[in-house]
This record gives sequence, C-alpha cells and structure tokens, in this order.
Amino acid sequence: MKTEIIRILREQKGEFVSGEMLCEQFSVSRNAVWKAINRLKEQGFEIESVTKKGYRLISEPDLLAKESIESYLSREASVFCFDEIDSTNNECMRLAGNGAPDGTLVAADCQTGGKGRRGRNWTTPKGTAVAMSILLRPQIAPQNAPILTLVSALAVAKALQENGVKEGLGIKWPNDLVLNKKKICGILTEMITEVDYINHIVVGIGINTHVESFPEEIKDIASSILLETGIKINRSKLIADVYNCFFRYYDIFLKTEDLSGLKEEYDGLLLNKDKEVKVLDPKGEFCGTALGINERGELKVKLSDGGVTEVSAGEVSVRGLYGYVL
Ligand code: BTN
Repeated sequence: MKTEIIRILREQKGEFVSGEMLCEQFSVSRNAVWKAINRLKEQGFEIESVTKKGYRLISEPDLLAKESIESYLSREASVFCFDEIDSTNNECMRLAGNGAPDGTLVAADCQTGGKGRRGRNWTTPKGTAVAMSILLRPQIAPQNAPILTLVSALAVAKALQENGVKEGLGIKWPNDLVLNKKKICGILTEMITEVDYINHIVVGIGINTHVESFPEEIKDIASSILLETGIKINRSKLIADVYNCFFRYYDIFLKTEDLSGLKEEYDGLLLNKDKEVKVLDPKGEFCGTALGINERGELKVKLSDGGVTEVSAGEVSVRGLYGYVL
C-alpha cells in the first residue's frame, strides 16, 4: 500500500489527495492510511497533512527504499533493498539458489565486498552511489550470455539520458559508461551454467551517482555524475529507470539472441567508434581503428593493412591510444 500511496501522491504533483479517496482506493480505514503515511514520513518522505484537504507530497528522500524503487517500476518485480550487503551480485546469486524468480532486483546503499571485473574490487560508499543486480533466467545459448553486458550498458546510458545526463555520455566498449572521458559506471555479469544450459545470470551494475572524491590512483579515470554535471539524481528512481530500460532492450535482444536490433543505437553511443584503439590481446597488442560492433557485440577493428578483425570482450580489452578512453 505504501508503494501505491507514493505513486498516487507523486502523480498529483504537489496537489492534495484526500484521505477518503485513499481509504476507498485500498478499502482500508482512515487509521490505516494515516499509519502508512506516518511510516513514509519516518522513511524521509516529506508529506503535508491538512484537515479536510488530505495529504500532499512535498519532497522525496534520496534514500534507497524498496517502496520508493517499486513506485517507479513499470512492471511487477520482486525487489530486495539493503542498507549494507557484501555484494548485490552475491546476494542475487544466493536468492537465485533459493528459487527467486526471473527479474528479481537487488539494490544496496553500501557494499562491503563489491566486485569489479577481472577480480578487482568495486567500492560503493554509503549514500552516494548505486549498486544493483538483476537476476535473469533466460532460455538462451550460454555463448550468447556475454552480450547481455552490452545490453545493460545501453540500458544504463538510456536511463541516465532520461535523467538529464546527456552531454559527454557514452560507452567505452564493451560496457563501461563514461562521462567526460571518465568512468562513472561498471557492469559485472556473472552466470551459473551447465554445459549447454544457463541456470541463471546476474547482471550487476554500479553507478557513481554522487560520490564526491576518488582515491588518488583512479581520480584521473573515474568520476561521478554529480562531479561531472552537478546533477544529483534520486537513486531509487535511477535504479528503477535502469531496470525499466533494461527490460525494454532485453526483450529486443531475446527476439534474435544477438544485437541486430540494438547495434545501431549502441554504436551511436560508442566512444571508441572511428577512433584509434590499442587492443590488449594476450597473444600480442595491436592498434587499429574501431569501426563499431557486430551482432555478437564484438568490436570490429580496421588494421593498418586494411583488413578488419573482430575482437571479443572476454579475450581482450581496449584502450585509447592516449589513455583509458581516447
Ligand atoms: C567493473 O569492474 O567495471 C564492474 C563493476 C561492477 C560493480 C557492480 S556494483 C553492483 C554489483 N555488485 C557487485 O559486487 N558488483 C556489481
């Protein structure tokens, strides 16, 4: 009921909603509505109550709350929200093992053991970032699962654009979101598979929304949305928007199990496109011009002899010739 009350109050855009209307809507007593409103106030929602007029929403807190996230979702989902957790990916995996349904969403205000790609750590400081994981149980070939990382990057980019982050935003292949040449989001996709069957996949997304400082060793390549744009995005809304966008793109991906329906949009955001890149291949580094991605999400690189090679994200990483991005 609290989720629905927030939704109704928000839709009224600061106008009053009568207590009577809320009672009728949920078939509950005035006292029950009053209690729900008080719970929301305790959670940080600023709600004005005026006799004979009802309730109106003045402001929403920037806190991660299950009800707040749910109130922005465009489809039903099983949502878990923690003040602190080791890693949302780990928790999502644990829930998956206990039978949690496809689409389960896990979010946390702070991670104590956040995981990055290639065994690195990922820091999610309290109150200033987004850490979220989505559980998927797709019936697709396991070799197509890594493509979901690119689908996720596209979803995050779209959600950020919808929240006003436009200038300077792009994707560094395959899945880093970059703002003004600095990384603001990382994605870690993990899966449990049999030889030819996917048990489940967890897509984990970390976004530096309003982190205000970074350690010396990464401050030249990492940043936050607040530092780069001055925009302080409501994190519950962003989590829901990323989730909503993800499923829009995921449905397109599932039709063909590749990126044929999304390639063009992805290339439009690809910062490496038409730029010189250094491919860090374990078999030997080489340089070329990035042309864009193919249906499998591999990066097409034009070599100096005019030939084109396709490199896969699992095997290589790329850098700009002069730095992390360009
Ligand atoms: C990267 O190295 O770029 C990937 C970082 C992924 C971080 C996210 S935060 C939410 C989820 N939980 C984790 O432990 N990792 C991912």
